[in-house]
Amino acid sequence: MSVVHIKIENHDYEVDSSMTVLQAARSCGYNIPSLCSWKNGRCSLASCRVCLVAVKGENRLVPSCAYPVREGLEVFINDPTAVEARRTSVELLLSNHSLNCQACSKNGQCELLEVSRIVGARQDMYAGEKTETTLDNLAPGLVRDTSKCILCGRCIETCKADQGLGILGFEKRGFKTIVGPSENRSFKDVPCIQCGQCVNACPTGALMEHSEIDKLDQAFAEGKIVIVQTAPAVRAAIAEEFGEKIGTSGTGKMVAALHRLGFYRVFDTNFGADLTIMEEANEWVHRLSSKAPSPMITSCSPGWINYIEFYYPQLLSHLSSCKSPHQMMGAIIKSYYAEKHHIDRSKICVVSIMPCIAKKYENKRDANTVDGLKDVDIVLTTRELAKLIRRAGISWKKLPDEKFDDDLIGEYSGAGVIFGVTGGVMEAAIRTAYHILTNEELEPIEFTPVRGFKGIKSAELNIKGEHYQIAVASGMKNAKVLLEEIQNGTSPYDFIEIMGCPGGCINGGGQPYVKELFLPNEDDDILETYISKRAHVLYEEDVNKEVRRSHLNPDIIRLYRDFLKEPGSHLAHKLLHTSYNSKREKYPVLEEK
Ligand code: SF4
Ligand code: SF4
Ligand code: SF4
Ligand code: FES
Repeated sequence: MSVVHIKIENHDYEVDSSMTVLQAARSCGYNIPSLCSWKNGRCSLASCRVCLVAVKGENRLVPSCAYPVREGLEVFINDPTAVEARRTSVELLLSNHSLNCQACSKNGQCELLEVSRIVGARQDMYAGEKTETTLDNLAPGLVRDTSKCILCGRCIETCKADQGLGILGFEKRGFKTIVGPSENRSFKDVPCIQCGQCVNACPTGALMEHSEIDKLDQAFAEGKIVIVQTAPAVRAAIAEEFGEKIGTSGTGKMVAALHRLGFYRVFDTNFGADLTIMEEANEWVHRLSSKAPSPMITSCSPGWINYIEFYYPQLLSHLSSCKSPHQMMGAIIKSYYAEKHHIDRSKICVVSIMPCIAKKYENKRDANTVDGLKDVDIVLTTRELAKLIRRAGISWKKLPDEKFDDDLIGEYSGAGVIFGVTGGVMEAAIRTAYHILTNEELEPIEFTPVRGFKGIKSAELNIKGEHYQIAVASGMKNAKVLLEEIQNGTSPYDFIEIMGCPGGCINGGGQPYVKELFLPNEDDDILETYISKRAHVLYEEDVNKEVRRSHLNPDIIRLYRDFLKEPGSHLAHKLLHTSYNSKREKYPVLEEK
């Protein structure tokens, strides 16, 4: 790293020469507001102009997010012209904004409002004509309301950079410009994988998840037996919604809150993850000795499933047929659990609390139904759960730590917990596959080559002299590399894990907004570390679990003994496996890719 010497407000600083003025100022403790710049204090568009500063020798104000530092640079943030210009920029954005904050789900976490407060924006300064707007709420996962869009382009950049897709773009020109899928189509009519990464990127309420809180209220009102399950990644982030530091485990308080919200039973999707491992590891071992297409690819991430159905349907036979853990859990609650407790399965409402928006889409797939009943009835995101807790007046800080309900399917292993982070499904599967192939236990239990946040990780697995090549990818840009290898016949792998969101479920599209990334932040290393801090919560829980292998979970052992009989049995297939279909016919434009 080379350094340059700069002055900010006449004070001397040494900063990395590759920084923008915005990055440099933040590293020196100056909080310049920003909106279109995201994640790393850089911005290719520099469209919002809320980060303007004065620079000695320039006869105009410059956007600090796009202006590089250099030796001897002198920056003035508190220059009266810059202060006024930043305020004007925000007031202009507000002049073309719906401002129905009381009904906006982003209220409380809206960066536009926060920046308005910082710059001291005045009311109705530039009232006038407003751009014609679109409200698209037809897709299961996402809602787009262009009346709240500030044209920052963060969603466009995220879809391209993280997923290698270009679903979103600027439509029309000048004053009529809006952001959306091409020709302003609905999300339901374009090959969007519903991952929600663009929702996490949006600083306003222009992109949001499709809320199902009303459906939950209705289920309670109808007297349903409402059973809730929570995915592993939820506990790794929910505490952030209540002001706790990133990396704080919220397991005990989350369970306590769910008990107080009136759910009949509070279960952990980790049981479903253990079940997935039982089925998936067995499926892989069977495939090794059969003519089934290799490599087998995991199937628990619905954003990834959408991707392969849209873009690589010719490779669908490589997918494991396993349902995702929460769907398996729902199917078991409405069969085994209902039967053992003599509950009418049609009276059960299964609610999944997920870090994911694509699971709202997955839940509506016809194949995730058994004997006419959906496995899962309602999917809420981590953010929606936080809203429920606030709405009920529950004080997070005063909640005790409580345990998941121990009722037939309440036990889970450490292997189930690490499902929430990239590489976790592979690591969990290896623990059980090793046992199936050798009748012994893998030691040491950790398989670290699949940990960490590289886009693609690969390793060789040695099981009693047999060598297997494995790979892990998260984010569709990385998945594409592995799929192209399979397509070209050059894939060296036997088993691949793919997760739709970069870093896995801990960074899912339904997780709490990491506001420190967008707003002036106090903690400079937060960008590099927030995913690993959340991952740490899961790895810690794994280490502290007495049972760390799915096949040793006593509730799983009893489920197979008393009900399913064995992995891959006829009943297991009926309840726990599914099928996939090409979506290409629906979107012929993809043929040209
Ligand atoms: S996006 Fe922000 S400013 Fe706009 S309506 Fe929602 S809360 Fe208000
Ligand atoms: S949900 Fe994912 S695929 Fe769809 S537009 Fe957003 S980032 Fe792109
Ligand atoms: S939808 Fe959100 S992220 Fe995308 S341009 Fe509009 S305000 Fe920015
Ligand atoms: S122009 Fe710099 S943050 Fe938007």
